[in-house]
Amino acid sequence: MPRSKVAGIGMYVPKNVVNNNDLLKYMDTSDEWIQERTGIRERRYAHRTEETTTTMGVEASKIAIERAGITAQDIDFIIFATLSPDYYFPGCGVLLQRAMKMKEIGALDVRNQCSGFVYALSVADQFIKTGMYKNILVVGSEKHSFGLDFSTRGRNVSVIFGDGAGAVVLQPTEQSRDGKEQGILSTHLHSDGESAEILAMYNPGTHANHWLEQPLADFEEAEIGEMFFSHAMIDKAQVFPNMDGPAVFKKAIVKFPEVIMEALDTHGLQTSDLKLLIPHQANLRISQFVQQKLKLRDDQVHNNIQKFGNTTAASVPIALCEAWEEGKIKDGDLVCLAAFGSGFTWASAILRW
Ligand code: UT7
Repeated sequence: MPRSKVAGIGMYVPKNVVNNNDLLKYMDTSDEWIQERTGIRERRYAHRTEETTTTMGVEASKIAIERAGITAQDIDFIIFATLSPDYYFPGCGVLLQRAMKMKEIGALDVRNQCSGFVYALSVADQFIKTGMYKNILVVGSEKHSFGLDFSTRGRNVSVIFGDGAGAVVLQPTEQSRDGKEQGILSTHLHSDGESAEILAMYNPGTHANHWLEQPLADFEEAEIGEMFFSHAMIDKAQVFPNMDGPAVFKKAIVKFPEVIMEALDTHGLQTSDLKLLIPHQANLRISQFVQQKLKLRDDQVHNNIQKFGNTTAASVPIALCEAWEEGKIKDGDLVCLAAFGSGFTWASAILRW
């Protein structure tokens, strides 16, 4: 059975750099607070009208496709991970298919937030292993700057997130190097919906307060047709992401090491075998905690949240692409990708480059 290899990788971040001090004009925060709690110095924000989640995904995909030595016409399946889609539906996958003038291939959107890209990679890996597809485009892209609460009320969420996109082309491989199989060795996916509301954007949705201890807008009063997205939701600012940061932090620092060790243990590998860990860029403090817990050296972990903030589904492919461009990943190197986020969902992928 073939394995999947990353045949090409690309990333795209908007030109507009927004540093921590730039946020002071919207909310009560400080460069010191943001750097101390998250490690973030700056992030990128997309052009309000000219760039969308899909267009950024297209730019990253063009690079990945070119580096794979193929054309957009050769892609036979698209998987697009995002939590900030251009439209509520249809998904970004079809918009990318149209924008890149691809054939009438399948397009799947994955909504797994921070772990979306690793989940998408895992789905793509299964299609490659079964021989169903030969060139799968996997994209993670986010335009967070369009959907956050930039008042002081939303500062615990809005200072963290940034915009950008990353993409890979997966192809089958049977190659080995020094007797070691190359490509994705395995992926590991998990979820625990018990705390789904801890990091969530409730509206627009069909929940009608069903799951919520603290009811939101009064659905009894809502007119038919107003239920999904009502005036009251906007008036009460219930259209933004909601996060209990400390609770997410506590869970993340347990699940990150767990899912990384699960990937290594599956193959009888040690942390010392890892050339590079690419953690989802949630918070530099989380990455540092994971590094310490697993006793990894600085050169074994790639972080770039300082420059780009948390780009959710785009963070792993952006970090992977940057590390590869910087020459930190060479043929035969063992790389682990790991992510944790809303759901909760968490995942890892272990691959030999
Ligand atoms: O990728 C998705 C998954 N998400 C995560 O992994 C996020 C995990 N959590 C975190 O990264 C951290 O919890 C945050 C960075 C979100 C928050 O840091 P924290 O150290 O947990 O702060 P906190 O939420 O406990 O808030 C501490 C204080 C509060 O003030 P009081 O009540 O102590 O007076 C907040 O109001 O910090 C205040 N605060 C801020 N102050 C200045 C919250 N956000 C800000 C801000 N600027 N942006």
